[in-house]
Amino acid sequence: LGKIVKERDIPKELGEAIEYALLGGGKRIRPFLFLQAFSLFCDREKEIIPFACGIEAIHSYSLVHDDLPVMDDDDYRRGRLTTHKVFGEANALLVGDALLTLGCELMGSVARKFPPALVGEAQQKVIKASGPEGMVGGQYLDLAAEGKELTLEELEEIHRRKTGALIQAALVGGAILGGGDSVAVKSLELYGQELGLLFQITDDLLDVEGDPLITGKSSQKDEVLEKATYPRILGVKATREKAISHCYAAQKALNDLGDRANILKNLAEYVYYRDR
Ligand code: IPE
Ligand code: IPE
Ligand code: MG
Ligand code: MG
Ligand code: MG
Repeated sequence: LGKIVKERDIPKELGEAIEYALLGGGKRIRPFLFLQAFSLFCDREKEIIPFACGIEAIHSYSLVHDDLPVMDDDDYRRGRLTTHKVFGEANALLVGDALLTLGCELMGSVARKFPPALVGEAQQKVIKASGPEGMVGGQYLDLAAEGKELTLEELEEIHRRKTGALIQAALVGGAILGGGDSVAVKSLELYGQELGLLFQITDDLLDVEGDPLITGKSSQKDEVLEKATYPRILGVKATREKAISHCYAAQKALNDLGDRANILKNLAEYVYYRDR
């Protein structure tokens, strides 16, 4: 990730702002999932890293825009001031645009080393999941839902699109590029669907119960903005129960892959118990 800006001819201050948004921390869960899924089927992990970085760049773009005053209006992210607080709103908008386009470029760059048809297919999955059918669509619905009472089904759709889709695509993309067969890809797709929901449910829980010093972002913001969240609809206790059922469902989806999928199984538990 650190090489992305250094290796390119980017105006100096813009490059600094991009690095601020990208390198300041973050759990790197999406590239981790991608690499884990990939390495179930292929051992050329080092050569595929640019693709993983592309996914993280797209995710980081989504955070920069999500924090803007016209969206969630947040001052803190990854333990420090948000990009727009430091570089201004117009520049934060451009940092997001830059990270999205760099992300696409990075994913495509591995076509020099891996079968271009597979690269294209994996890239297509990630881009589609990031766009209006996936994350952008979910972010749209998330904003439109502020102050409204949603059904659980409507809420699940938002979470599936805004967060689940990219997480799922990282896993599916990794499996495709690694050369996994269609049965294995299907298992990871199902795992990704469950893990993606679990991830946003625990994000909602952390907004209620988390420690800002550990999460690196402000708490209780969802309540202020009257966001549609699981705790808002179900309460914290029933939300925890919902989370554990998605955790088990995620683990179950990997059963056919045997012991080699244990890291991904454990990761589902990590996401359930996470404090950041
Ligand atoms: C936060 O994502 C935004 C959501 C989609 C829930 P992460 O919790 O993965 O954020 P970082 O990358 O670790 O900062
Ligand atoms: C964000 O959901 C989903 C994205 C696609 C960025 P949130 O708005 O709940 O994420 P945080 O809590 O600000 O990280
Ligand atoms: Mg948001
Ligand atoms: Mg937000
Ligand atoms: Mg949140």
